[in-house]
This record gives sequence, C-alpha cells and structure tokens, in this order.
Amino acid sequence: MDTGTAYGLRLGAPLENLALVGPDTPYGEVMRRYWHPIAKVEEATTRPILVKVLGEDLVLFRTRKGALGLLHPRCIHRGASLYYGGVEEDGIRCCYHGWVFDPQGHCLEQPCEPELGLHRDRVRQPWYPVQEQYGLIWAYLGPPEKKPVLPRYDVFEDIPEGEVLIVNDTGVGGGGPALLDFNWLQHWENVMDPFHVPILHARFSGFQFTAEMALIPEVTYEYTPRGVRSIQMRDLGDGRSLRRITEVIFPNLRVVASPKLASGPTNIIGWVVPLDDVNFKIFTLARDADPQFLGKLRSTHEGRPWADLDEPDHQRMPGDYEAQSSQGKISIHSEDHLTTTDQGIAMLRRMMAKQVRAVEGGGDPVAVSFTEEDALVRIEGGNYFEGAADAPLLVAAVED
Ligand code: FES
Ligand SMILES: [Fe+2]
Repeated sequence: MDTGTAYGLRLGAPLENLALVGPDTPYGEVMRRYWHPIAKVEEATTRPILVKVLGEDLVLFRTRKGALGLLHPRCIHRGASLYYGGVEEDGIRCCYHGWVFDPQGHCLEQPCEPELGLHRDRVRQPWYPVQEQYGLIWAYLGPPEKKPVLPRYDVFEDIPEGEVLIVNDTGVGGGGPALLDFNWLQHWENVMDPFHVPILHARFSGFQFTAEMALIPEVTYEYTPRGVRSIQMRDLGDGRSLRRITEVIFPNLRVVASPKLASGPTNIIGWVVPLDDVNFKIFTLARDADPQFLGKLRSTHEGRPWADLDEPDHQRMPGDYEAQSSQGKISIHSEDHLTTTDQGIAMLRRMMAKQVRAVEGGGDPVAVSFTEEDALVRIEGGNYFEGAADAPLLVAAVED
C-alpha cells in the first residue's frame, strides 16, 4: 500500500509569536524596544512621505527649520491624512481645517477656533521619536519609559580617509526586488543558515558569489551577548583555510561579511526591517573606498543581474529571493523538519522566544543600552584567512 501521500494533508501554522510584528504581538513588542531605520535622511523633506514599519502607517517630514517629524497620519481633528498636509516652519498643517502639529504632536494652531484654539493644548497628535545617524533616520516605536540609547557601531565610527559611508535600502546579496514581499523572519533566519550557501549559491545555481563558497564548511554556533553567531571553517586545499564569522544581533541585524570574501572584519551591517508581516526592507550600511561597493557585491546568474532573468532562468538559477519567498508569505514553521545543520536556526528561534518572555515579564531584551558608554557595538563578523597568505584567491576563476 502506498504511504506518505499528500492525501488528507493538513498544514499547521507559522511560529506567530516570533514572525508577527504588529502592535501587541509578542515579537512585535520585542522589536519595539529597539530603534529601527525607517528611511534614508534625504527622503525626509518638506514634502511628507508615508512610511510603514512594524505594521504601522506613519507620516515622515522635515520642518522648514530642519526638525524631523514622524506622526500618526490620521489627523486627530477628524481624520484627514497628514500625507496631504503642508509643512511649515515648526510643524505640519492638516489640509482639511488647518490644525498645525509640531514633531512631538503638540497642536500649535486651530485656525477656525477663537484665538487659534483656546484648548489646543488638550489634544496631541500621536508621534514617535526619531534621530538621524549614519545617513539613516531611526525611529523608536516602543514604550517611552523603555527608550534605549541609539546604538553606534565600531565599523562606522571614525571612517578612515579615502573611505566613504554607503547607505542602501534596496537589499543586498542574493538577488531579488528592492521591497521583499514575504515575512522578514525567513530572511533573518537565513543569516544563521550557512549550509544553504554551498548548495543554493554554488552547486545548484552556479557560482553566485565565489568558488570558495562551494565548499561545505565545518560550522560551530555560539550564543553571544547580543545574538547568535556561526563560525564557518573551510579548508581551501592550498595550505590556507578560511574562517568566516557571521552574526545575528537582536532584534533584526545581519552581520554578513562580503560573500565575495574580502579579508578581515566586515565593513557591512544590515537591518531586516519589517514593514508589516509580509513585507520587509533591508537597510544596509557599508564603508569602503568604492561608493559602488554594495552594488558590486550582488550575486550574478551566469553573469547577469537578477532583474534580467526570465521565469525559466529563475527556476534554473534560483537565489535567496526564490528560496526564501517560496517558503510562503509567512512560512508554516510547524511543518519544518530541523536537522543537525539547522542548529543555528533552532538557537536563534530559542533566543527570540527568550526575549519574548523577558519583555512579557517586564524585563528588557538583550542588547539594549540605556547609557552612551554601553551603546557602542563591536562587530566580530568577517572573513579571516589562515595559512599561506600569498596564495591567490580562487575568485579570479569565477565568472562574475
Ligand atoms: S481633519 Fe485635520 S484639521 Fe480637521
Ligand atoms: Fe543566501
């Protein structure tokens, strides 16, 4: 008799406590204890824009005096969107009846009311704190009394002469559209999945990065004070070995060194920012002498960029986007069969669940700092070559 057929298959459910990010969701509350990049600084102007983050729709603008504002879009008077508002010296004026709100939501004017609103100080447009750093605008959407200090990262402090800070918000790495249309966790977990690299990015689809990455590494995983890391050892067969360290830092950072194997500590960090449960954006910062550095890191498919592929090409040479988006809009995690090589995924999920419990119990999640001294993050991820230093990289042999 046939067994194991799909007849009667009932699929389970996602790990909703970890995957969902809206208000009042378990991991959404964890996420709300940290600052998140929401836009590039040049996007905030006197023309308001809509931004979405953690399932919340917001309006971002810069007053004529230069202050950043991030407000709930629905005007507290009677609901017109501040997206149609006009930005002035000190705030934004609603188009409908002209109420003016400053970046902290104070109502400055109600022009149809006597004396511009005798009781205007009794209302407040909901707002969020924002800061600028490293060419990005960062927002804090959590409880005000738990607001941490905005972290700094050693790689982006004191950028040496001849190098520039590169700011990118269109993803990086294995190909795909700028806005990724599936659950953010499928991408973040992938950072702790070093075994997909030799298969997906080399054996299955042709070399998408470099020849070294086709070697199956020996991997150890470790918890760190800020997240989880994997240490991937590859014997390059020419007297050298490669020690590649990849980190995830809570709540959503990816520290993935150049897959094209630039040597040394990484010069790249990415933030996997959920817009909602089924859309996310990757904000990436890098430091390099070449302003085009990040664009050149992208994987290629028989030498072609992802955007040039047709449907049969996507099937023949899938990359990260095809693999991760095809797990589902939100992957049904209950149906996963985790094995020994999924240890990094299991450790990450366990550590996420621990942060959920910490926050639910009234505590703080890992890696939040409340003093400037604690706010500097030292990054350990990178590519470290050991052995004969002058042996040529295999990179030269790879079509790119
Ligand atoms: S709805 Fe905004 S001022 Fe009336
Ligand atoms: Fe990948």
